[in-house]
Amino acid sequence: MLSIKKEIARILQQKLPDMSVEEIEDFIEIPSDSSLGDYAFPCFRLAKALRKPPHVIAGELASSIGDNELFARAEAVNAYVNLFIDGQWLARITLEDVCGAGDDFGRSDIGAGRPVIVEFSSPNIAKPFHIGHIRTTVIGNAIYKIFDFLGYKTIRINHLGDYGTQFGKMIVAYRRWGKREDVEAAPISTLLSYYVKFHEEVEKDPSLDDEAREVFSKLEHQAPEETALWQWFRDESLKEFSRVYEMLNIEFDSFAGESFYSDKMPAVLEEMESKGILKDSQGAKIVDLEQYGMPPALITKTDGSSLYITRDIAAAIYRKKTYDFYKNIYVVGAQQNLHFQQWFKILELMGHEWHDQCIHINFGTVSLAEGTLSTRKGRVVFLEDVLNKAVEQTRQVIRDKNVNTDSIEETAKMVGIGAVIFQELSNGRIKDYTFSWEKTLNFDGETGPYVQYTHARAASVLRNGGWTTPPSLDAVDLTYLSGDSAFGLLKTIYRFPEVVLDAGDKYEPSLVTRHIVDVAQAFNKFYHDEHILTENPEEKEAKLLLTYAAKQTIKNGLGLLGIQAPEKM
Ligand code: ARG
Repeated sequence: MLSIKKEIARILQQKLPDMSVEEIEDFIEIPSDSSLGDYAFPCFRLAKALRKPPHVIAGELASSIGDNELFARAEAVNAYVNLFIDGQWLARITLEDVCGAGDDFGRSDIGAGRPVIVEFSSPNIAKPFHIGHIRTTVIGNAIYKIFDFLGYKTIRINHLGDYGTQFGKMIVAYRRWGKREDVEAAPISTLLSYYVKFHEEVEKDPSLDDEAREVFSKLEHQAPEETALWQWFRDESLKEFSRVYEMLNIEFDSFAGESFYSDKMPAVLEEMESKGILKDSQGAKIVDLEQYGMPPALITKTDGSSLYITRDIAAAIYRKKTYDFYKNIYVVGAQQNLHFQQWFKILELMGHEWHDQCIHINFGTVSLAEGTLSTRKGRVVFLEDVLNKAVEQTRQVIRDKNVNTDSIEETAKMVGIGAVIFQELSNGRIKDYTFSWEKTLNFDGETGPYVQYTHARAASVLRNGGWTTPPSLDAVDLTYLSGDSAFGLLKTIYRFPEVVLDAGDKYEPSLVTRHIVDVAQAFNKFYHDEHILTENPEEKEAKLLLTYAAKQTIKNGLGLLGIQAPEKM
């Protein structure tokens, strides 16, 4: 990938021998008003060293570099050198890059195969997989894809919530009031109803709690009957979760959830004990974090059983040993900020220098606009239902709009589910947002359907133009791509690899989402402003080439978000 900024810095550096290319690169700006250039170089800070007023420096630089092939022109305006990139040059380097790389356009080897764990989704078994889980699931998957694209060796972990005292309660409830057939018919809602019933009954009969504790203790000691029941609950729950993952096209490399660490707990506790960071507190064990402005972390309960946080510590230590990760990323909501701060600090106190390779990637909450879907009315909104509804509504839109498709069903799935994912990844992750059907499924806004539709439109232009594969660039006359809208489109395509890098740096898939909206808008402008399928075969070829590049960029961008790119729509 060629970086224009770096190229410009190299050119300027020959005139500014006392500065490094990197320093110069840091100075270079992208003016928000493109009439001030595609790039600009401010000269204020050079004045002292060069003993000349900034505007004089700018004037000298502009006239000495202006004839480089990179620039259409270089203008000095006050203390700035405003640089206008040459359209032909940009067309050549961009199209060369896209044609050469295809599906790999934007890919990089910056990760050098270093292992990166992305932990995401991680629902609790026997509990609904609801709309609240969509964020970790979809943001996590996109972060995984971006890191994979950047050349890291990624490991996707689903840290299932499959352990804890609640399973003692669940088993007690099932034994008292449960039926096997009911669980099999609708595992999660049935198990959930048992759990709710347990909490009602325990009000009247507190001894149920002791019973549950005993059962959990048996489970912890791997008693066969309890283990079998727990395993069954887990399997049935996973079946339900898998349906959703399949709809979203999401896979994991490991489902090692909380229970996986139960036998690794004693060693961790011993380690904490030996490092002297555990304190007794009325029979329980805690780590005092007051010094760090945090409440104490409860590590074991009075009965010796472990907690959520204990299992997270054990899991991190296990992962470091097993994967020797370069980064261990947790895609978990901002409600758990304190939890992660606490146990990252505990790792540090234990002397694990790699504690700062553990990264909590948090995000805001999602709420629902439609009253009927409100959790506040006591109705849990299952993620599966949201996805099904999206597909259903899209099917209707496809029929109403007479959308061009070989299979309504396939397209409805691609577009409906794509729309939900796209909407989810449209805003910066830390922002709270309100899910709205209207916004999500709109074909005209800055939405998934709009971008997918643009991709299909480009595909259709290529089909109608008889396009097969990219021709050799030397044979194409790029002067036909001199118009403003072609130039605008080329600039967005060119920037795609930089945007992917930035999205990885910031753990922010929405940067990719927003950029492919820009590419789609720039392509649609080109499509409207220019006649692509002209009589002149040379002109047509050049314009088809640009159409192909736009389509490829949109496809690669959608791919990073976990969204498919339809050929027809
Ligand atoms: N199961 C948890 C929940 O649903 C999320 C787990 C997050 N990951 C972690 N390593 N603590 O809230």
